[in-house]
Amino acid sequence: MNLLAIRNVGKNFGGLKVLDDVSFDVPAGSIFGLIGPNGAGKTTVFNLVTGLLQASSGSIAFQGRDLAGTEPHSITRLGIARTFQNIRIFKQMTLLENVMVGMHHLISYRPLALFFATPAYRSAERQARERALELLSWLKLEHQANMIANKLSYGDQRKLEFARALATEPKLLLLDEPVAGMNPAEKTALMDEIRNIRDRGYGIFLIEHDMRFVMGLCERIAVLNFGRIIAEGPPEEIRNNPDVIEAYLGREDPEDGP
Ligand SMILES: Nc1ncnc2c1ncn2[C@@H]1O[C@H](COP(=O)(O)OP(=O)(O)O)[C@@H](O)[C@H]1O
Ligand SMILES: [Mg+2]
Repeated sequence: MNLLAIRNVGKNFGGLKVLDDVSFDVPAGSIFGLIGPNGAGKTTVFNLVTGLLQASSGSIAFQGRDLAGTEPHSITRLGIARTFQNIRIFKQMTLLENVMVGMHHLISYRPLALFFATPAYRSAERQARERALELLSWLKLEHQANMIANKLSYGDQRKLEFARALATEPKLLLLDEPVAGMNPAEKTALMDEIRNIRDRGYGIFLIEHDMRFVMGLCERIAVLNFGRIIAEGPPEEIRNNPDVIEAYLGREDPEDGP
């Protein structure tokens, strides 16, 4: 089953055509990668999927439902969460508070005066706290739950952002360059943690530059070059695709050069 169906999507900014006839599917319960050189249009794809931007042409459907015109908060509620290329967390709040902020749409709304400190409120808050600790444990951050977020290493701040994205209880998690700024040990650990999240039934759709990470982790990969998809398939196929090597991989591997 496919979670996301992207069909013939185009995106123009004024006269600049950033995406051109982009089509691919993101399957459920697996890890899908989108790669391509800087400026290829990868983050724009995420901005379209999450409703921050509207496509100029084509369609994007999530679980069979067309997302055209759907507001970002409604898309979150349908089950799509994302992280950003530049970390966005509340640095002066604890890890636990950061994750609980992501949950607020789950706690049923009541006027504050009635709601505050009632048994129902306390019970909802306890459940939210337990869930937040559970999500932190998926990223191996639970032992730091009460620490202020700006005390975390850069790699752990990224992981906190993933835990917060999971707090909206998504079906599909979009990760924009998840290992940017991580050291090799953090990258290896994150691969395992992302696999574990996939095994819990989440769909993962990630953008990444680090080829070892992408090739080692993704079940399928799409390659974007100057706004067009030039290849889509399993890692072995992508690694050996001549167009991909010329457009992208070749630049990173001097042994393939002239
Ligand atoms: N909101 C925007 N307005 C104008 N141009 C944009 C906007 N967002 C992205 N672009 C341009 O679109 C191109 C693709 O950007 P982006 O999707 O961020 O690429 P990538 O993530 O692959 O590096 C770039 O040339 C960028 O400058
Ligand atoms: Mg980008």
